[in-house]
Amino acid sequence: MKKNWQHVLRFLPLITLLALLSGCGKDGVSALEPFGEIAREQAKLMIISFSIMIIVVLVVGIIFTYVLVKFRKRKGQEEYIPRQVEGSAVLEIIWTVIPIILLAILAVPTVAKTFSTSDTTSKSVTKDAVVINVTANQFWWEFEYPDDKVVTAEDAVIPTGRNVIFNITSKDVTHSFWVPALGGKVDANPGQTTKLRLKADENGTYSGRCAELCGASHALMYFNVKAVSNDDYKAWINAMKDGASEPTTASAKEGQALFKNNCMSCHAVDSKDAGIAPNLENFADRKNIAGFLDHNKENLEKWIWDPQAEKPGALMPKRGVNNNLTKDQIKQIADYLFTLSVED
Ligand code: CUA
Repeated sequence: MKKNWQHVLRFLPLITLLALLSGCGKDGVSALEPFGEIAREQAKLMIISFSIMIIVVLVVGIIFTYVLVKFRKRKGQEEYIPRQVEGSAVLEIIWTVIPIILLAILAVPTVAKTFSTSDTTSKSVTKDAVVINVTANQFWWEFEYPDDKVVTAEDAVIPTGRNVIFNITSKDVTHSFWVPALGGKVDANPGQTTKLRLKADENGTYSGRCAELCGASHALMYFNVKAVSNDDYKAWINAMKDGASEPTTASAKEGQALFKNNCMSCHAVDSKDAGIAPNLENFADRKNIAGFLDHNKENLEKWIWDPQAEKPGALMPKRGVNNNLTKDQIKQIADYLFTLSVED
């Protein structure tokens, strides 16, 4: 019985690794499950390199096992030193030529795809393309639509089937913009603009990640890319230009007044006023609070009360713990923010 357990223990690291890896790719966040042209090309390249690696590992493993078994020391055999040889022109040519062939198989499509997928300037690509300026911040994302003077945060809206060219930069440290199902990733560097082209095949919400260690809440620096039909996209842009509707309930109206006095030195509720903190004009339409919390009032109240408790290193000051605002006031602000919608 003990022996069986020892067997299981021997495989424990492998089992643990498999269990951990099975957590990857959850919720459609997998580069191997592409939903767009760029991600598909990238996935193909990954599969080519994986296949070559598997073939190499198999061939080397089989030769290794064969040699181990064939030339093992047998029972009763005396210790002996095999015949010593030095250099073999045939073998050396073989193990030089094989890697060259493998690298060529890898290099030809990789170089070609590197150029085609990173093309953001040729006419065929820019024709009908949507441009979005992305600014990474510790720890949130701003999306500006320069052609329409629209600004939003955390959730980018894009038209399905059209090229989207992201101009990416950072306000503070180096981040990295990655939407695994659509493609990527590209660094967001302060003082520099990098470019990425993505295209979504079908409508849907694709989860994005910051892919460069950027501080305490790097792992919470999520965002979403919502792909909608071209008509819905145009309607969204126009609705953003028109602004959010005014609150109607007494609580939300109170919240609006509190928001103006306490939050608007940093936040805005209109694209043209967008400042150092996220523009909340379409806050109610977002998928998550602060990019990662479930989108409900309870979480929003917790967030306003003490943002750093939810997202360490967040720059938004605590509003509740220093008694700046009471629980009731924060509830009213949450009521107000949940009226900020540009969708019908
Ligand atoms: Cu931003 Cu990691």
